[in-house]
Amino acid sequence: MSADDRQNRPIGIFASGVGGMTVAAEVMKLLPGEHIVYFGDVGRYPYGGRSKETIIGFARQDIKFLLEHGVKFIIAACNSASAVALETVQKEFNIDILGVIEPGAKAAVNQTGNDRVGIIGTVATINSDSYARAIRDNNAEIKVFSLACPLFVPLAEEGYIDKKATRLIAEDYLKTLIDVDIDTLVLGCTHYPLLKQVIGEVMGNKVTLIDSAEETAREVASVLSLKNLLRPSIDDVTHKFYVSDVPDRFSQVVRQFIGRNINNITRVDITRY
Ligand code: DGL
Repeated sequence: MSADDRQNRPIGIFASGVGGMTVAAEVMKLLPGEHIVYFGDVGRYPYGGRSKETIIGFARQDIKFLLEHGVKFIIAACNSASAVALETVQKEFNIDILGVIEPGAKAAVNQTGNDRVGIIGTVATINSDSYARAIRDNNAEIKVFSLACPLFVPLAEEGYIDKKATRLIAEDYLKTLIDVDIDTLVLGCTHYPLLKQVIGEVMGNKVTLIDSAEETAREVASVLSLKNLLRPSIDDVTHKFYVSDVPDRFSQVVRQFIGRNINNITRVDITRY
């Protein structure tokens, strides 16, 4: 295959549902010339409360599906899948697979001034300790404070962005992190960037929020450039979306997530993979 053919292949993105669209949207913004194939496992969402074995099994099928589309690079655009399955699937498949943990962790290491970093995410992500390990691998001096905030996911999906109930829940969850004097907080879940404003207000302006979606898009750009895999043109770009259950609900929630409509949503039977 020529370099041109490789560059023109799509980037594959998978997530447990709609959450990975926060990552896809950043990739589209930063790399407007890239074709994208997105798979949202809405039929088996959420991943965040499931066991490691189950999430690894799901991630394998998601990747096999994307490979069928001739992708050149895969993004595990789900913190829970990145946290518990990435290491395993990176060994099993012969393609570069980037997760969202490493980029977020690196950004936190660069950002913190007092070496005290908070991580919020799903139960699977927090229990895996992946962010804390990735941060300590970069700088062993940094103290990491991790907290699962499972209610943030349904709040974001339901569009409870600026509701009183969301603020009360955020205040209740985050008080333990306020008490430990962090100066940096990683939004370690694809859904949390939607709640950036309320989380930021509750944490106060001395705490910088790290958005893993933005950091991951930057890392994708740099890896593709390094491997000479960036598509040279921005013309005739196609974005294709696949889901494992009702496409209508997916498109509604996507509108909430990225503020615009998407077409080209096809339902697939992911259990075949
Ligand atoms: N995408 C998941 C994550 O980033 C959140 C939703 C879920 O639990 O599946 O952890």
